[in-house]
Amino acid sequence: MSALIDRFGRRIEYLRLSVTDRCDLRCAYCIPEGFKGFEVPAHWLTFDEIERLLGLFAGLGLKRVRFTGGEPLLRRGVVELCERVARLPGIEDLSLSTNATRLATMAADLKRAGVSRLNVSLDSLRPERVEKINGRPVLDRILAGLEAGRAAGFSPIKVNMVAMRENADEIDNIVAWCMERGFVLRLIEVMPMGDTARQMGYLDLQPVKARLRDRFGLVDTVMRGGGPARYLGTPDGRFTVGFITPISQHFCETCNRVRLTVDGVLHLCLGQEERVDFRALMRAGANDAELTEAIRNAIDLKPERHDFVDAPRKLVRFMNTTGG
Ligand code: GTP
Ligand code: 5AD
Ligand code: SF4
Repeated sequence: MSALIDRFGRRIEYLRLSVTDRCDLRCAYCIPEGFKGFEVPAHWLTFDEIERLLGLFAGLGLKRVRFTGGEPLLRRGVVELCERVARLPGIEDLSLSTNATRLATMAADLKRAGVSRLNVSLDSLRPERVEKINGRPVLDRILAGLEAGRAAGFSPIKVNMVAMRENADEIDNIVAWCMERGFVLRLIEVMPMGDTARQMGYLDLQPVKARLRDRFGLVDTVMRGGGPARYLGTPDGRFTVGFITPISQHFCETCNRVRLTVDGVLHLCLGQEERVDFRALMRAGANDAELTEAIRNAIDLKPERHDFVDAPRKLVRFMNTTGG
């Protein structure tokens, strides 16, 4: 049977593909201002290489792909790449995580290309705070992007808010804002990747979850997608809020995913160093059987869990490399 099952019995059916490590923003928890460590274009996997590799993964049971970044919409030709990945046999779902600064002009094309779900970052509704946290004055563009996503028919659209001490006072307001507009909200604990993220004011989401449950009358609920969020919702099902809590309550035992970076390196865990360089293999001329074997062997390297709590200084990688 061709399935990707790791040493801990987890079935790997979801791949996050960072299509570029570049970004037009400088979110304080992600890319430090002045960052110079971007990958050189000669190392970027070509669309043909991506299609080939994901095709082989799909042959081994991969069902879902998410494009991440950096900012995925900055990769030239990304709509064509979406089309090519969405039509690979076996791929049932193609989704995208974006900062939305370019979504207003691209949403309809992405929908046509076969993207089924959108997650959009939004950390504040105050223009000056967006500029501070995200590094650029882009609130208006994000809001226009969200509306364009809705107009293009994406449903649900998930709003990702990295919740920190800095924006904690806006959580209830953003809950109400998403409720009014029909967006799913996800609150995310900041992960200590790179120096900047380690300096952000960590906020434990467990008390926030208890407070929102009481204040908005929310009950436990589930949501399709298989991601790490745990959800609450209104009893009528019209509003849902997810909590992504890698620090206060990790979810590694149900992890179903691996990550492929723009330079063709497969990372087996967001918070660990185990990796396999598929660009090197492909460019050295590996045939499909050899690559398939390398994929199976890579899955055997997947670690049991991250070490963000016990060893928060361990990882020097930045989030724009692995795409979150
Ligand atoms: P859905 O399929 O829509 O649930 O997407 P998702 O939540 O898996 O993806 P998204 O790109 O929106 O990521 C939201 C947050 O979850 C980001 O901060 C990611 O870094 C984080 N995240 C996603 N997968 C993992 C994971 O395997 N481990 C950890 N620690 N964090 C993750
Ligand atoms: N901790 C938690 N989430 C992060 N993201 C980026 N960096 C971090 C971090 N250090 C989030 C973004 C985006 C998602 C893909 O990853 O806000 O919503
Ligand atoms: Fe860019 Fe996303 Fe990183 Fe912000 S979190 S700097 S939008 S890649």
